Amino acid sequence: MAVLLGEQQILLGATTFRTKFPEPRYDMDSVLQGGIDACMSGAAGYILTLGVVEGARGRGLAQALLRKTIEAIQAQLPQLKAIWVHVISYNHPAISLYERMGLQLVRRFPRFYNFHDQVWDSFLYVLYEKGGPAP
Ligand SMILES: CC(C)(COP(=O)(O)OP(=O)(O)OC[C@H]1O[C@@H](n2cnc3c(N)ncnc32)[C@H](O)[C@@H]1OP(=O)(O)O)[C@@H](O)C(=O)NCCC(=O)NCCS
Repeated sequence: MAVLLGEQQILLGATTFRTKFPEPRYDMDSVLQGGIDACMSGAAGYILTLGVVEGARGRGLAQALLRKTIEAIQAQLPQLKAIWVHVISYNHPAISLYERMGLQLVRRFPRFYNFHDQVWDSFLYVLYEKGGPAP
């Protein structure tokens, strides 16, 4: 997501996501019924990153970006049943955003992240098509 200021384009936020997976991931069994087979055959998309620059936060940009990302995943995966994302356990702005947008907390992965020799848990959040079902 970018704005045009005269000739200049300024990047305010970005997301990355994946709809094809070269190999199964350890978390796929937690995402939806059918687990790895379902995820590998196009029933689920994975949001890798979502970020908005500090000075532009709190204006709904992440919500707009996430909505566009969901639409892009839906367009790529006609069999889509779920979209999943991991969030570090202390990231309240992101957790609040995901819950506001209807993602469900499915499980906690202990010691998922390792930053500067410190380990942190992750929460796995999933957006199910038509609100369900969870695995
Ligand atoms: C998490 C993150 C993406 C949220 O970005 P954001 O653009 O500030 O998010 P939004 O503006 O959509 O929502 C944030 C708040 O603004 C409020 N808001 C939404 N639209 C608004 C508007 N039009 N005007 C004013 N406030 C608004 C929301 O209610 C929300 O508040 P709440 O969480 O108390 O309910 C951002 O903090 C970030 O980039 N963090 C660092 C990277 C990161 O943690 N990414 C997530 C990885 S899982």
